[in-house]
Amino acid sequence: MGKISLDNVKLNYTDNGTVYNALDGLSFDVKEGEFVSLIGSSGCGKSTALSVLSGLRDPDSGTLLIDGKPTTGTGKNRGVVFQHYSLFPWMTIIKNVEYGIQQVFPDMSKKERINEARKYLEKVGLADFVNKYPFQLSGGMQQRAAIARTLAMKPEILLMDEPFGAIDAKNRVILQDLLLNILEESEEKKTVVFVTHDVDEAILLSDRILFMDQKKISKEIVVNFQRPRNRETLMERESYRSLRKKVVNLFYYESEEKSEVEGGEGI
Ligand SMILES: Nc1ncnc2c1ncn2[C@@H]1O[C@H](COP(=O)(O)OP(=O)(O)O)[C@@H](O)[C@H]1O
Ligand SMILES: [Mg+2]
Repeated sequence: MGKISLDNVKLNYTDNGTVYNALDGLSFDVKEGEFVSLIGSSGCGKSTALSVLSGLRDPDSGTLLIDGKPTTGTGKNRGVVFQHYSLFPWMTIIKNVEYGIQQVFPDMSKKERINEARKYLEKVGLADFVNKYPFQLSGGMQQRAAIARTLAMKPEILLMDEPFGAIDAKNRVILQDLLLNILEESEEKKTVVFVTHDVDEAILLSDRILFMDQKKISKEIVVNFQRPRNRETLMERESYRSLRKKVVNLFYYESEEKSEVEGGEGI
């Protein structure tokens, strides 16, 4: 039994009487502790899939199971990070993180809450900025703070929708490494579904990459590289380059390979 199971999910948007079909038979499972990336072209339904997983939208038909139980609506077991850092602009970043903690742990003492908020801001490299307001920080720093807030709420499942999509190339790499390192800490081990357009990001972070096409999953690639992973050593390897080629072919050229491809080295 997977941690998450989507079965034959269909979802339509209605806009001014016009019906748009966004998901049409989306099915996939994610195992406990697995990191799965969803990649696919713009408009194929990735954000809609994530909104179903988060419970922000319930499917029109089909089911979402979490821990084997049919689930509707949002829940504290799931945390979401969006492309646009959803911090409250009128609160300092430590207050933002504290606010998140308070939603999940209302009985925690103020002292403990502040300590927890500091701990998570330290994990994302913002120890010296806790009393800044979001507008005083760069986009990359704001996204670090948003990640800290979500992690501090200790969700079992982390849902990320192109979280580094608006960040410049250099900071993007830094943030990928940061996320990789944090999630490899045993106390932060989570089940993750991560939406991205970036092939290297998907390979570096994932255990499995799902390709979305025509409103459902078309193919998958297993990424077997051992953890903990290191960007430089990984990218130097021949097996990385050959896996990357496969992913690029499937993503950009949709070459007719068989639908399940094993990649990486299971060592
Ligand atoms: N609120 C909405 N109303 C109407 N159509 C929508 C809405 N949100 C998304 N769509 C449409 O649903 C499809 C899937 O969108 P989305 O899940 O955002 O795709 P992706 O994240 O892969 O770019 C697209 O055709 C999009 O235009
Ligand atoms: Mg999207």
